[in-house]
Amino acid sequence: MAEELVFGLDESTDEVAWKLYRKAIRFGTWDPAEIDLSRDREDYERLDKDLQDYLIHFCTGFLDAEENVALKFCPWIMLGASTQQQAFLSTQLVEEFKHTEFFLRYFQEVLGIHRTEGVQNAVQQKLDERGKRMLNALEGSEVQKEEALVEGLAHYQGIIEGVQAMAGYDVFEAVYGSKGILPGLKEGFKRIKEDEGRHVGFGLRMLKLLAKQEKHAASIRRVYEEYRPLIAIRYDQPVIVDGRQIPVPPVVNGRERVMKLFERRLKDIFGVVSVS
Ligand SMILES: [Fe+2]
Ligand SMILES: [Fe+2]
Repeated sequence: MAEELVFGLDESTDEVAWKLYRKAIRFGTWDPAEIDLSRDREDYERLDKDLQDYLIHFCTGFLDAEENVALKFCPWIMLGASTQQQAFLSTQLVEEFKHTEFFLRYFQEVLGIHRTEGVQNAVQQKLDERGKRMLNALEGSEVQKEEALVEGLAHYQGIIEGVQAMAGYDVFEAVYGSKGILPGLKEGFKRIKEDEGRHVGFGLRMLKLLAKQEKHAASIRRVYEEYRPLIAIRYDQPVIVDGRQIPVPPVVNGRERVMKLFERRLKDIFGVVSVS
């Protein structure tokens, strides 16, 4: 799937944006409220306590992330350089809220609890500051706007969506999906991944084009390098649910998954494996 995300540079950015906008309008119409979660509840009750709690931790991470990106996304739309780009990015905004809605429903109908606390994601926490810088850039020159957008795309589409979220889909598959359980969550992820394919596809296409300019290439590298250590430790933190530290299933293999995707994204953007 990762390879298919990267568009070539033969079409203009506006053509790509418009094509993805039309695709979102025509096909991105799934309804989070309609996914059948009835078997998930039964499967969840049959899981042992550690795997139940790991699922709570895992879904909390996703819910927090989807909600955070949804709430913070408006500056990315506003910095879109054309009608076509803003039109596409506006579809992304509502889709992030749909993903949030799906996980809210999952907590209510399957897990039967509120989300837990304390799932640290430093890269997500920095979105606040990023959004503020992007809003400030709206008052600046075209050059400043483009620079702010480059960093915003690297942070959001390039790392949060292109690395962290995608590692999460694979973790779900390794721990739960591959056992043929939790079909509602599997269906939700399938739909979310279709949406994210457009989001990441557009972001990487923009980054690949912008990286042709040396100054932009340098800021994309800077963002990736700044977040590299934060991404690496994302899965190393202790997993605590309800005050109890629970074991991480070995198949999660988080650090290796995120770092592999991290390198792949750099290759998508720069065409080489290493940034140095
Ligand atoms: Fe999302
Ligand atoms: Fe997304």
